[in-house]
Amino acid sequence: MNKILVTGGAGYIGSHTVVELVEAGYEPVIVDNFSNSQESALEGIAAILGRSITCHRIDCTSTYALRDVFKKEGDIAGVIHFAAYKAVGESVEEPLKYYQNNVGSLMALMQVMEEFGVNNLVFSSSCTVYGIPAELPVTELTPVQKANSPYGNTKKMCEEILTDVAASDSSLKTIALRYFNPIGAHPSAKIGELPLGVPNNLVPFITQTAAGIREQVTIFGNDYDTPDGTCIRDYVHVVDLAKAHVVAIERLLSNKAESIEFFNVGTGRGTTVLEAVHAFEKATGVKLNYKIGSRRAGDVPKIYADVTKATEILGFRTTSTLEETMLSAWNWQLHLQESTANA
Ligand code: UD1
Repeated sequence: MNKILVTGGAGYIGSHTVVELVEAGYEPVIVDNFSNSQESALEGIAAILGRSITCHRIDCTSTYALRDVFKKEGDIAGVIHFAAYKAVGESVEEPLKYYQNNVGSLMALMQVMEEFGVNNLVFSSSCTVYGIPAELPVTELTPVQKANSPYGNTKKMCEEILTDVAASDSSLKTIALRYFNPIGAHPSAKIGELPLGVPNNLVPFITQTAAGIREQVTIFGNDYDTPDGTCIRDYVHVVDLAKAHVVAIERLLSNKAESIEFFNVGTGRGTTVLEAVHAFEKATGVKLNYKIGSRRAGDVPKIYADVTKATEILGFRTTSTLEETMLSAWNWQLHLQESTANA
């Protein structure tokens, strides 16, 4: 069974990918420092799979700690690198923290992978590398632009580092997946997004408001050049996104990949914030308390993916509608309430 190291494997997308890897016949090994994740994610994974998954509690910026994991684990066939900070606003306040962690962990990981002759890497990138795109939908050939935040810049810089390494005579092969907006949760409702404190992202804010934890959702601006004036995003079910990592690993292990490849992972559908709110209401039957507020600084007015490349080369398919995805996010929120009530 091929062993796949999953950094950030206790996090939101990481935990879902660990489950999909096992279901596809891989043996994932988690590396996580739990800076923005919780042990309960490991319990959720174990409850879904009926067994626990090995987890090393280390910081990926440490080559020493990584070396130790690679030594202990022996034959690692590939690495999926999720571990990174992801709060856009915080990255503006504390840029160094973001560069040190997000760029530092990739550098440490690549060094140790080279030392141990591990040549297959899937990297978590983001549609943020496209900045404010001139054309929609964005393809992988849409020009990468100056990032809007230090967070976005770390993704862009990591892509550049990986591209430079690919152009050298390194044996490393990389697939960088550019995620659009991952939302939703596993159908079992045993794992999902666990935002610490007040959520920055739309869907956890919606589910927490519907659950009475937050008073009201503020929609950030309704004066954009879109059909209803609110921003457009491409919301992709986290399980579909997790599956994209499995097919990316498969492609790397079967030696079909070029030295570096980039793929958009979204649904190909643009959805406004108001449409997202209404999809949540329709799917769950819960009326949401929301108001229109002012624009949020740094927001991209509209972005959604052209997913032709991922569909044709990776065989990537989305399987859930927006309403199904919203319902899964709500079921996860209800599960969280239940576990808190029983604790
Ligand atoms: C951004 C990045 C994404 C990154 C993510 C990390 C872009 C296009 N996307 O996602 O690459 O991985 O941050 O956090 O730069 N909204 C509200 N009210 C709220 C919260 C959000 O109206 O309370 C709106 C936003 O204005 C936006 C949409 O909902 O239009 C989605 O916002 P959010 O979930 O924060 O994700 P992005 O900002 O798109």
